[in-house]
Amino acid sequence: MLKGKNVLLCVTGGIATFKSAALTSKLTQAGANVKVVMTDSAKQFVTPLTFQALSRQPVYDDTFKEQDPTGIAHIDVADWADVVLIAPATANVIGKLANGIADDMMTTTLLATKAPIYIAPAMNVNMYDHPAVQRNIETLKGDGYLLIEPGAGYLACGWVGKGRMAEPEDLVVLLERHFQPKEQPLQDQCVLVTAGPTQEKIDPVRFFTNRSSGKMGYAIAKKAVELGAEVILISGPTHLPKPKGVKVIDVQSAADMYEAVIEHFDAANIVIKTAAVADYRPKEVSEQKVKKKPGQWMIELERTTDILKTLGERKQHQLLVGFAAESENIEDYAKKKLESKQLDLIVANDITEEGSGFQGDTNRVTFYFRNGDEEKLPLLSKDKVAEALLLHVGKLLKGKRHV
Ligand SMILES: Cc1cc2nc3c(=O)[nH]c(=O)nc-3n(C[C@H](O)[C@H](O)[C@H](O)COP(=O)(O)O)c2cc1C
Repeated sequence: MLKGKNVLLCVTGGIATFKSAALTSKLTQAGANVKVVMTDSAKQFVTPLTFQALSRQPVYDDTFKEQDPTGIAHIDVADWADVVLIAPATANVIGKLANGIADDMMTTTLLATKAPIYIAPAMNVNMYDHPAVQRNIETLKGDGYLLIEPGAGYLACGWVGKGRMAEPEDLVVLLERHFQPKEQPLQDQCVLVTAGPTQEKIDPVRFFTNRSSGKMGYAIAKKAVELGAEVILISGPTHLPKPKGVKVIDVQSAADMYEAVIEHFDAANIVIKTAAVADYRPKEVSEQKVKKKPGQWMIELERTTDILKTLGERKQHQLLVGFAAESENIEDYAKKKLESKQLDLIVANDITEEGSGFQGDTNRVTFYFRNGDEEKLPLLSKDKVAEALLLHVGKLLKGKRHV
């Protein structure tokens, strides 16, 4: 896991500094590229030469020792790091970082880096318990620093208590875990999402459509990619940018959408239908633009094919999720649709509610599950609704819920 990874090791001045030499050696042996930054106090305990020899890299200890005129060392090294580890971290450096102080090579580099920073404190137990140190640690945690709790035991100062720096081998394991690919809830799944409205032609210039923006479906497609899935998005006409990493198939009418969905249905194991597909289309489509005439114009409409119902009848291994955008009797309609279309989960929303439904960036939805469970979500961004939905889908797939 550490092979080729750039680890920036920040060594401050405490008794545990000698342990960082062993840590440098272990990280290098594990294949990491290790660069060491030392404080002046750290050099009182172990020489830079030790770290240089173990890491086979120059050691950084002076902000103003700019050896390379093509760069600025503390920025370059901050950008170079994939991960940063401060070990040992003195009470002093913890205090400086909690207050944004940048008065030496180490602290300027630490403020400049975008890499995740782990902190392994080491100090006397009374120093560690001091309210100022504890307050600073809390501040750092709040700022996103990752604390590696010190161990308890015999301390070099003679006291027994909490304050021992984590052992080098444990720190190596921790960094290996850091680089381990996280398990993705939708890894190896193929998700088919439909989105947007459809357009039903009347003549070459006119069509029937609806107010769906496609935002909910696009948010689901984007989030499904982030959660590890392969995603096919069948989209009616929208003005939205195509989400990265998604195979987008553009369609226009309900009939086009039906064809595209059926074509990709077998490849998918999760199907999420957010599209607002027309229920009716003009029975006759005029080849020429219909000219205006005095009096009324009657257009006869016929039913389009019910895509969701067809999928419910055809489904084998697929998990089927539908949406119900209603303006009245939401729960009743949603539950009926869940049954009649043989869905595994339906997402219902009241389009008359403030912040809910078409076109906006937010939605207030309720999930109804096949086993009778329900979950009402507060008003959320469509991205957050997408995430909540897909995490449920992941759980359903794992059989955590009874489908
Ligand atoms: C022998 C000795 C051991 C020390 N051990 C620690 C220690 O374990 N933790 C700590 O926070 N400070 C320790 N200190 C105090 C720090 O060296 C001192 O606060 C210093 O200013 C830290 O500087 P730095 O954070 O820039 O490395 C020790 C000092 C001495 C003389």
